[in-house]
Amino acid sequence: MVICLCHRVSDRDIACGAQSGCTSFEALQDDLRVGTACGCCLEMAQEVFEQHAAPVSGAAARAGEPLAA
Ligand code: FES
Repeated sequence: MVICLCHRVSDRDIACGAQSGCTSFEALQDDLRVGTACGCCLEMAQEVFEQHAAPVSGAAARAGEPLAA
């Protein structure tokens, strides 16, 4: 299904981007340009991205935490 009509980006394109290294929606936008014209697709595109984005591992999640005193 086409999500972004302006740039002809499908849900499969977004899923592939999310699963192949785009670590943020902004990175995905840099790659696919999804949502960068009229913006009508932004909400749907973000939902699809979040459904397919790789979960952050425990170690990676903890990397941003401040060290305990
Ligand atoms: S439909 Fe995606 S930017 Fe217009």
